[in-house]
Amino acid sequence: MDENRIPPVSRRRLLTGGALTVGGALAGAGVAAAVGPGGTAGTADRTEQRRQSIAYGEQTVPFHGRHQAGIATPAQAHAAFLGFDLATDTDRAALGRMMRLLTDDAARLTQGEPALADTEPELAALPARLTVTFGFGPGLFKAAGLDALRPASLEPLPRFTIDRLQDRWSGGDLLIQICADDPLTVAHAQRMLTKDARSFARLRWTQRGFRRSRGIEDDGVTQRNLMGQLDGTANPSPGGDVFTDAVWTDDGPPWLRGGGTTLVLRRIRIELETWDAADTSAKEFTVGRRLRTGAPLTGTAEKDTPDFDAKDGLGFPVISEFAHIRRAHVNDDRRRIFRRPYNYDEAPAADGRTETGLLFAAFQRDIGEQFLPIQRSLAEADLLNAWTTPIGSAVFAVPPGCATNGWIGETLLG
Ligand code: HEM
Repeated sequence: MDENRIPPVSRRRLLTGGALTVGGALAGAGVAAAVGPGGTAGTADRTEQRRQSIAYGEQTVPFHGRHQAGIATPAQAHAAFLGFDLATDTDRAALGRMMRLLTDDAARLTQGEPALADTEPELAALPARLTVTFGFGPGLFKAAGLDALRPASLEPLPRFTIDRLQDRWSGGDLLIQICADDPLTVAHAQRMLTKDARSFARLRWTQRGFRRSRGIEDDGVTQRNLMGQLDGTANPSPGGDVFTDAVWTDDGPPWLRGGGTTLVLRRIRIELETWDAADTSAKEFTVGRRLRTGAPLTGTAEKDTPDFDAKDGLGFPVISEFAHIRRAHVNDDRRRIFRRPYNYDEAPAADGRTETGLLFAAFQRDIGEQFLPIQRSLAEADLLNAWTTPIGSAVFAVPPGCATNGWIGETLLG
């Protein structure tokens, strides 16, 4: 029997509401999702759908621990990055009060509990793997009178020739990264946290991003960005030794060691109109990987190791000297970075030009040792630069996580 055909008896029962029998018949017929003639799901299937959506909506990520969540956490579908400027009278003591308050909000909201004085407590009920991650920009150390404890390379990145940075997407003293599999959850958490930060800081920028919705492909597969590329293939795997050595800071200021890290957030515009004009082989040559499979040009499967020494029949490198993956590649595992990017796609400008790109978020133990050399190499000669332009840039130290009776930032501000 054709597996996709709903058997006539089942279809009749579907219409008369014989839920259990329908469910059984459909399961027997190997039909994964039954949709009635009018495009509506049967009762059994509605129950199944409800079960699945509740399963996603109710999922939580632990808030407390050695590291903040939202870094090694498999990336959720939606993100909001909020950059704040501190008010002039926000000193070390005030920062401590602010971080206690924000930690309390985040600890509750991420576990599906309303924040204290939550104005819409109903919205907290479905956390959908909500994580809230805090970062400290260079200005926060100055405001706290703790500049001596700022990681040495935590300062605005040097200006690269490819940059067209705009103030409205750059800088910031405090970062709140909010991620969840549901945009309503992100919006609610954003509002609660912004409300409580208001007495101490002013919102400088908000950058929203998205990935594929949860459930439309298997968890853990590499995502595509808006250029159509599989993006994330050569990332260190969270939890593995390479990730641990590359991401968690193990020297520098003691308050950051062990559980902390740093974040570079670059807003990178993508010129989709001109990218669309390039043909497939030009696009693949640019990155050094195939579009359909993500395989390196020297291999056949996504996870094949690129062979940077391979030459074509004419003696030219198969993966160009200027291909993105060659320019971005580092041999020393400790110098790798962990990319956790989100796409953005805003309303087009009045002239119809797309407003599209990547919120390129990279975590590493040390910006100077890891991010900077890669960014320099890309700025010098990366074929991708013809279609991408950094328009925002911000750097943050990401404090370790905290215990249930602690608060984020206590090792610095406590
Ligand atoms: C819009 C901008 C960008 C796009 C569309 C992009 C896209 C890609 C793609 C498709 C890959 C190959 C698959 C993978 O391993 O993920 C890749 C690899 C990589 N990218 Fe980017 N990228 C961008 C910007 C950057 C920036 C700014 C950096 C760092 C400063 C960077 C660092 C890397 C690294 C480290 C790799 C892995 C290289 C390796 O194979 O070892 N990328 N990127």
